[in-house]
Amino acid sequence: MKIGIIVGSHKKVSNSAKVAKYATEACKRLIPNSSTWTLDLANHPLPLWDEGVWQGTKEWKDLWGPISRDLTASDAYIVVSPEYGGMVPAALKNFFLLVDKTEVGHKPGLIVAVSSGRGGSYPVVELRSSSYKNCRLNWIPDHMIVRDADHVLNSPNFENESDKLTRDRLDYCIKLLGEYSKALRSVRASGAVDFKNHPNGL
Ligand SMILES: Cc1cc2nc3c(=O)[nH]c(=O)nc-3n(C[C@H](O)[C@H](O)[C@H](O)COP(=O)(O)O)c2cc1C
Repeated sequence: MKIGIIVGSHKKVSNSAKVAKYATEACKRLIPNSSTWTLDLANHPLPLWDEGVWQGTKEWKDLWGPISRDLTASDAYIVVSPEYGGMVPAALKNFFLLVDKTEVGHKPGLIVAVSSGRGGSYPVVELRSSSYKNCRLNWIPDHMIVRDADHVLNSPNFENESDKLTRDRLDYCIKLLGEYSKALRSVRASGAVDFKNHPNGL
């Protein structure tokens, strides 16, 4: 099972990347026979969507092709989003304009929001209300908010109670993601999905 981890921070060194690193290790520990790949949008910045995407220009094929192949080969996704101004960062919104239903449709996604304070709920709400409509990424009902992010996940073992709770909850969500990943394979194989007649969600 292959799991794609998308990091939405704009910072080259970010708490979101730290959380993604923990998630990478947790996937290997908790989901049998799994492998992961990571797209960190700060260290692999993508231009803003333009008409060339739909026209299939060489520039976009070169840029997006390798990412598309990894997305298509994946069974599940973890999307790590910091809260910026009470929003999902622009790089991540742009990612959701670029990604297609043929790559991620009807595959499960886990939302992990990150805040250095007590925030983090807005990215969850935003991703659950806008992002999945056309690409049909299937957000699982459980999600994670990593709060006080500067002070958790900094060492191999937990350092305080909040760090322990963060790890326990992340592990739980990742285990669930693995099970949804297996379960949703049958939906995709069922023949019920019809992207030709229903190309966009409502
Ligand atoms: C432009 C910007 C806006 C931010 N706005 C918020 C916010 O609205 N709520 C919040 O809890 N944290 C906010 N933060 C702080 C982040 O929670 C903090 O940077 C955290 O480490 C997650 O971001 P990172 O993964 O980019 O490091 C903001 C940070 C930046 C850079």
